[in-house]
Parts: sequence; C-alpha cells; structure tokens
Amino acid sequence: MKRYHFFLLSLLMCGIVSAQTIRISTSKTDLVFRVGGDGRLYQSYLGSRLGGNGDFDHLAAGPEAYVTHGMEDYFEPALEVRQSDGRSSLLLKYKEHSVATLSDGVTETAITLADEVYPVTVCLHFTAYERDNIIRASTEISNTGKGRKAPVMTLCRYASSMLHLDAASYELTEFSGDWAEEAKMTSAPLTFGKKVLDTKLGTRANMFTPPMFIVSLDGKADEHSGTAVLGTLGWTGNFRFTFEVTQTGSLRIISGINPYFSERALKGGETFTTPDFFFTLTSTGLGDASRDFHRWARDYQLYQGHEERYTLLNNWEATYFSFDEERLVHLMDNAADMGVDLFLLDDGWFGNKFPRSSDRQGLGDWEETHDKLPGGVARLTQAASEKGIRFGIWVEPEMVNPKSELYEKHPDWVIHQPEVRDEYYFRNQLVLDLSNPAVQDYVFGVIDRLMTDYPDIAFMKWDCNSPITNIWSPYLKEKQTQLYVDYVHGLYSVLERINAKYPKLRMMLCSGGSGRIDYKALSYFTEFWASDNTNPIDRLFIQYGYSFFYPARAVCAHVTSWNRNASIKFRTDVASMGKLGFDIRFSELAENDQEYIRQAVKNWKRLSYVIADGDQYRLFSPYDGPHAATQFVSTNGDKSVLFAFDVHPAAYDRTRPLRLEGLDPVADYTVEEINLMPGSRSSLRGNGQTFSGRYLMTVGLPVFTSSELRSRVIEITRK
Ligand code: DGJ
Repeated sequence: MKRYHFFLLSLLMCGIVSAQTIRISTSKTDLVFRVGGDGRLYQSYLGSRLGGNGDFDHLAAGPEAYVTHGMEDYFEPALEVRQSDGRSSLLLKYKEHSVATLSDGVTETAITLADEVYPVTVCLHFTAYERDNIIRASTEISNTGKGRKAPVMTLCRYASSMLHLDAASYELTEFSGDWAEEAKMTSAPLTFGKKVLDTKLGTRANMFTPPMFIVSLDGKADEHSGTAVLGTLGWTGNFRFTFEVTQTGSLRIISGINPYFSERALKGGETFTTPDFFFTLTSTGLGDASRDFHRWARDYQLYQGHEERYTLLNNWEATYFSFDEERLVHLMDNAADMGVDLFLLDDGWFGNKFPRSSDRQGLGDWEETHDKLPGGVARLTQAASEKGIRFGIWVEPEMVNPKSELYEKHPDWVIHQPEVRDEYYFRNQLVLDLSNPAVQDYVFGVIDRLMTDYPDIAFMKWDCNSPITNIWSPYLKEKQTQLYVDYVHGLYSVLERINAKYPKLRMMLCSGGSGRIDYKALSYFTEFWASDNTNPIDRLFIQYGYSFFYPARAVCAHVTSWNRNASIKFRTDVASMGKLGFDIRFSELAENDQEYIRQAVKNWKRLSYVIADGDQYRLFSPYDGPHAATQFVSTNGDKSVLFAFDVHPAAYDRTRPLRLEGLDPVADYTVEEINLMPGSRSSLRGNGQTFSGRYLMTVGLPVFTSSELRSRVIEITRK
C-alpha cells in the first residue's frame, strides 16, 4: 500500500475525516455506515442503540463495509467479480442512498456503491424491523454495461452481508449434527483466522448444519445477559458463513450463498440479488433475542404465521409402506378418536408399473397404486371428511427413483452424468433438474394435479431425502456452475406458484428430518419436521436447538414409539412444546394412555394460543441436565404453560425450585398441573393455589423431582 493511502486510511479509521452518516436502527440496535473522504463506505458501528445523531460523530469511520477482492484488504472479501479482461479487482464508492418505510415500524435503507472503472454497481439493502430488533440484509450486484455487446462479467463470490464486530473476545455457537441428531449445539472461541460453516449438499443442504449461528461478544451470552449476534440465512441451498478474526482482533462475519462451484455470468443490464441474511443483536441475553426472532417470524416471515396449525396423526411409523385403504381408514378412526385435526398419509401411496412398496422404486410416478388404494385419494379424503377430520398427503416431487416410469421417460430431467459415470444413489434416488423450466412445470403439476383432483387435501408433507450427487445438469449445458443456485431459484418459482394458486394449503417442510430448513423456505411452508428422531430425550435437545431461531408453531413434534422406556405422557409432553402430532398405533395403546392422549390433544388445542403464539422462555437447558423446562406466556399475559422434565436425575437430586419468567409481578396467578394420567393426582406442592407473579418469578415452583423420565405440564392463569 502506498504511504499516502495508508495515511488516508489511518485518518478514516480515526474518524478525523468527517463525512455522511447512514444510520440503520431498530428499537435496540444501531448499524451505522459512514462515507469516507475517499468516497468509500465504512461500517462505523454495530451495537446497542446509541443516543442522538451527535453520538456518531465520535465514532471512528471503521473498516470498509463490503470488502471487495483485489484491492488493499488482506482478508476474506464479500465480493469477487471477474471482468471479461480477466481482471478481478473492484473499488466501490458511494453513489447514493435512500430510506423507505415499508410498513409501520419497518424501514428499508438501500445504499448504492459503484466502481469507477468497470460497470458494476452494488446495492446494499437493509430492512430494519424496529419492534422486533431484526435486520434483514441483502445485496444486489449489477452489470450496468449497456447494449448487447456489453462485456459479460463473472460473479465468483457474492455475499449477502458482511458485518464487522469489535470485542475483546468472540464465542461461536454452532448447530451441527446429522440425520436423527440435528441442531446439536457446541460453542468454541473464535481466535485469529477463519472458521467456516458451510454446506455443499445442494438439496438436502442442511443435513449436517442449518444456516444459523450465535456469536457471543465479550464472554458467553446466556439466557438473561450478554451480548450476541444471532444470524441466519434465508437460502434453501448451499450456504457459507465465514467468521474471520483479523490481526487486530476484530471479527468479520460474511454470510451468503456458498461460492463453491457457483460462479455465474452477469450480462450487461443484469442484476443478481443475493438471498436475505437475517440477524439480531442482543445485549440482554439469548432469551430476548429468540423471542424477537419468533415474534418477527410469526408477523413477517412464516407462511400463515398466525393461522391455526393442524394437530395430526401420521401413518409413517405406524405402517411404513405396508398399508391399504382399509388400514388407512382404520387409522383415520383413530385420528378422530384422538381428537386431532388431520390424518396425514405418508410415503408409499403411488406407483403402478413400479409400486412404491419400498424406497427402491416408484418415486416420480404420482398416480395412486391401484391395488393398494382402489378408490384412490378420493376415497381417503371422503373417509376423512365423514369422520370430521382433514386429510393431508406426503410428496417428494423433486426426486426420482431410477426404477420409475418418470426416469424411463425423462432421463434428461435428472441430475446425473449419463455415459460418463455410474449413478451414485442416496436412498436409492436422484434429484430432478429444477434449473430446467420444464421440470419446474412438472413439479408444480404434481401438486396441481393432486389439488385439482382432490380439492379437499388440506395439508402436504413435502419431503426431500437426497442431496445432489453426480452433479451435472443436462439443461444448463456449458453453464454447469449455475446449477446449485438456479436449482434453488427453480424451487422457489414452483413454491410461489403453489402458494399463489392454493393459498390455504398448509405444507410441512421435511428433508429426512430437518435436512433443509431456513427462513426463505419457511415463507412458503407453515412448519418443518425437526427430526426423524422422536426419542423424547433427544427431542428435548433438538427442539431446544431450533428454539433459538424458530417459534414453536413452526417446529413439528410427533409422539411415536421411539424410546418406549419413556411413558406416553413424557413423550406427549415433549411433543406438546412444538406443533403436536402423532405417528403411533393408537388402538394398540392401553386405554389409560389413549385417554391421556385425548386429554393432551384437547389441552394443546385449548392452549395453542399460548404455545404456538406466545413468548417462549427456556428456563432450564437440557444441556445443563438432568432436567429441562420451557415456559410459554400468551401475548396478552393471561395465561402461561410450563413444561418441566426430569430426565436422569440422581436419587438425591438437589435441584432448586424453578423460577418462572414473563409474568406480571403484581398480578395473581393460579397454578394447576394438567396433562395428568387419568386417575392420578398432582403431587406438585402449591397445585391449585394462588401465587403472585413476583413470588413465581422470585421463589419459583418445585416442579422437578428425582424420578427418572417424569414430566409435568403446568397451567398458570392470571386472576
Ligand atoms: C423421511 C421423513 O423424514 C420421514 O418422516 C418419512 O416421511 C420418510 N421420509 C418417508 O419416506
């Protein structure tokens, strides 16, 4: 770097050069940019909300906001664009910015930067949700070259967001795992150098890690205290978060699509828009941050964020592939008896030349199997309505078994490398090429056909069991590196068409458990399947992990036969902390258990305005064992529900009474244990009595016991 440049940069870093300030604020956070004397954009501040504008004059200019490849910076850039002349340096200067009010308390700031040598503009978008303290960031990158002969440039990496933080220490909490062990939380300090969280799996992109993270600043944040950034990318494909600590101890977080094998051409006049990165910065601990995310998601992001969620009975584990019409109708009787809203028919209902009698064949042939279902889906929707319940159905329309009529007819619709490599199958299947508009029409057509023929279908479980393997798109030809991204855009266009034509249809996002989960997908889906692992002990951890970002109404939790050492009550109580469902042979349960389930379903529905829509308080982490507890408080404050679990306590467990949260200290509340096994009485000290909110939040309730695998659900009602 030339000496002059170094001098100028030093002046900017010290904030001596005064310049234009752009402030993006929520009720709790300020993100401040400043245009330096050199015309470049700097991030002056990201932290708790400051006072009046005068405060910002005291801030140093800070580091360059959105760092480009090939100039003076020595660390990971946010943007790299290769020009047609082979050069790939960009120097972005501020051009203009605008602020618009999108709705009450929601403002969008757009800052346009441009290179003076090459025809590139970059527009940084920030939407601030004031009340919820959430900021959405995305970037538009344009080739402003004019005319058909304008040189084509190549986007090599194109982050949605780059954030700069300055703290004494950083601790990253990641959520990683695998099938049946999703969202396991581990934390480690970030020190000099890079830590990358990413995925290259394409479709089942989040099998090992979903796109979400927590970075604590200046010591580890806990539920009630500490400063942290919670971030998540709304992208249903390969993502990458890069956390890099520089030699001066500052941290950059770069979030966006994973650039791995994803270069793409940008012609003159074209703009590429990155996915949205959503984040919050808390200075009062993680509990507030999660409640902010939940409220924001229900109001702005989740499909049908406030509509009723259907409790259901699913047949997957009750039958797997072996069922017929009679067996399904019998299960519907069970569903009606249990009191759930809906019966969900899972995998195995389709295929005739290759009947779907196992996961080895039939995927892609979405016609009912005649000998299994002679009356077709029509008979099933009719039976459901006769029993007063709704009907839902499983689909996996992006995939194909090689043993299927679809594959025979359209090998050109499949992502694979014919004549070059043997096919590699994940769960015996391959992924259809959704970058191809004809395939998009086909996938939309699968849903459209079902909904047209059977308009009574109220719900779909949309599965996606394979990552992309043997990557090659017959459609994209020489543009192969666009496949990962174009696939996701193709998927969104299908989902948009479905939502537009069938706005009332509720859909569960599933991917062999939660192998695909993010907030963009959840703008099309009402909920997601958190894990195939329904062992209630493991579920305490998995649901806890997802609770940092997702509200309970989005997290499907089913009672199954996993871990029969746990009682039906324990299993149901764990599932009642999410969107309650069942996947169990109800008629084979003891009468006591059946009656318990009927009561628990009634209670969940009665209290879903608290659980699905209320504020969630993580009172006792399963990671701190041997107990766990979560409390929900309704938004109007009239009701609270507390779930408490004893997992493996010692015989002389000394756990203290559990302090509640979110209550009105001066109000009185009655406390009543519900979800009791038929014929049993509560042994909770204080059951049926009245307490002040202050007492419950200061002294607490002795909800834990030294019994193994015991659970309690407590209803707290404001008087
Ligand atoms: C994987 C899902 O996670 C299961 O719940 C079930 O739907 C199967 N696929 C069906 O193949």
